[in-house]
Amino acid sequence: MTEAERPDIIDVDDRVRAGSTSQIQDMPAYREHWARAEADPGGYWLAQAKQRVHWRKPPTRGLEGDFWSVRDSPIAWFGDGELNVSESCLDRHLERRGDKTAILWEGDEPSEVRKLSYSQLHAEVCRCANALAELGLKKGERAIIYMGMVPEAAIAMLACARLGAVHSVVFGGFSAEAVRDRVRDCGASIVITQDVGKRGGKNIPLKRTVDAALEGEHGVEKVLVYQRDAEAPAELVSMQDGRDLWWHDTVDKASETHEATTCGAEDPLFILYTSGSTGRPKGLVHTCAGYLTWTAYTHAVTFDLREDDVYACAADIGWVTGHSYIVYGPLCNGATSVIFESIPTYPDVDRYWDMVARHQITVFYTAPTAIRTLAAHGPEPVRKHDLSSLRVLGTVGEPIDPVAWQWYYEVVGQERCAVVDTWWQTETGGHCITPIAPATPEKPGSATLPLPGILPTLVDDDARALIGPGQGRLCLEHPWPGIARTVWGDHERYVSTYFTMFEGRYFTGDGCRRDADGYYWITGRVDDVLNVSGHRMGTAEFESALIAIDELAEAAVVGYPHPVKGQGVHAYVVLQPGSDDRAEAAKNAHRAVRASIGAHARIDRLQFVPGLPKTRSGKCMRRILRKIAEGEPDKLGDVSTLADPSVVEVIVRGAELFS
Ligand code: WT7
Repeated sequence: MTEAERPDIIDVDDRVRAGSTSQIQDMPAYREHWARAEADPGGYWLAQAKQRVHWRKPPTRGLEGDFWSVRDSPIAWFGDGELNVSESCLDRHLERRGDKTAILWEGDEPSEVRKLSYSQLHAEVCRCANALAELGLKKGERAIIYMGMVPEAAIAMLACARLGAVHSVVFGGFSAEAVRDRVRDCGASIVITQDVGKRGGKNIPLKRTVDAALEGEHGVEKVLVYQRDAEAPAELVSMQDGRDLWWHDTVDKASETHEATTCGAEDPLFILYTSGSTGRPKGLVHTCAGYLTWTAYTHAVTFDLREDDVYACAADIGWVTGHSYIVYGPLCNGATSVIFESIPTYPDVDRYWDMVARHQITVFYTAPTAIRTLAAHGPEPVRKHDLSSLRVLGTVGEPIDPVAWQWYYEVVGQERCAVVDTWWQTETGGHCITPIAPATPEKPGSATLPLPGILPTLVDDDARALIGPGQGRLCLEHPWPGIARTVWGDHERYVSTYFTMFEGRYFTGDGCRRDADGYYWITGRVDDVLNVSGHRMGTAEFESALIAIDELAEAAVVGYPHPVKGQGVHAYVVLQPGSDDRAEAAKNAHRAVRASIGAHARIDRLQFVPGLPKTRSGKCMRRILRKIAEGEPDKLGDVSTLADPSVVEVIVRGAELFS
């Protein structure tokens, strides 16, 4: 049987194949590129880096280092090259694309639209870089960016890049405590924020949260505040003399010419904190040239980017998707990139489609959780709008179930668009396993095939690599340019998290199945990381917040399948001896999680239990708690090693109340 004859493969053959910058338009080209990148990674990526990135001094070296020796010598790509990332994203486009829209901003209200051409964006970034330099920000120093979805967030990122300073964007949903942790961990000297964020008609008190975060010890000397709403309630926005400055008093008055700083290829570009299975979030470090090459390449190849595309990624700049596929990849490619401030259901559930039609969006990229939310409202809100401009639909963040995939493909894409289910991670910098539009025949629910440069291996419980079809832990074999190089301030943690489980391989933390066609099907995390509505959170972060409150003695948090959010959060908690007010304890538990992590972290099920299922050596058997939360108490396996097996029965009965 040929690929086209397979009933489970959808091949859309009437896609326009002209005018793409992707270089990979069909399966023979894909196979050829993949083989070339495997045979000569240094040569393949050096050629891509030279084509896609603007260099001050072009590199001559490809890859240095490997996954075996990563403890002693970090991975380096294009090590002798010199560049400034903001020049790749701005300056070099001025001649040909000066008047082209770089950022198309759609505010919280559909009537608020701003367009910034490449020349305007360049001028704003230069102004911001001059202002930040004036405030004392130097090459190599860190700036925290805590903002909503306004163009100024991208401007601030690019201005840091222009100075060779390292930004760390913190998602605007994080709490003061989480901001404080990140400020301290990276040793930031400046925070860039805004008065209030706008989301679904509500004010997000960003400045007030920064004020709270900066109580106590830190090295922050200046806070730069963009004014999103001059009429924001005064109690949300107080300015501290000597520390806080308004964007309009500093940036707007600065010069619009700025000489970019020369950076080495491996100088850090940004730090992005992400959750793991243990401890506090880690600050992953991405460096200039490899990251930019990877995001530019994958943005062009996966989405089959065309010069006249109106490209919209609905993610938040606070997550890696926003970094790679709203800011760096698209701008490096000279694309028009949409920044969307609102939510898919405001003012109504047709907001996305209304926006697609108004801006004639051609490539649209969102998360499965949004698709499931909107699919629940039926096809009518979609059909009201003319979506004929759409050519490619992307999804990211979690596995997409075939039902949601079909809805996206049929109702939104009208069976005409490629659907690219892009698997990747904060650590990988950009797409790794994904269909390439329009080349890859899709299978609903599968991230399909690895991009050139990506060598996936499935490893079984005995650390053996599987050959052919099977299911195991997903590892990647060989460094690609976009991989994060280290954990900020803790290289050992980087090595132990990713490279010690299976030596010589990068372990992703995901489980995965490979079918007979070699297609990959991500099954979700196999570690203690939760993915709730595409937001990555560590169970350990929930647990440490919970046991910090007076009423609780112990806590264990696991995920369970949730129809809209992908995963829900199930917390098992044990009251402190002597506390018996469950209502009070529950109230404080919810409050503690919100204060410690942020508003996006919510316990869906809080279950009081007499004790946790522990082995005689005192280890909590999370596997049992997971099965119970998943509604499979008949599949607990062996519980005889527990110190007190009777506790399981009580927990099972208690859990039934939730289903
Ligand atoms: C985790 C990474 C990738 C940028 C946004 C999230 C899950 C991501 C997919 C997908 C199945 C996916 C994985 C991964 N994930 N994309 N297309 N199919 N799972 O980045 O916060 O670093 O989370 O998200 O579990 O490990 P992140």
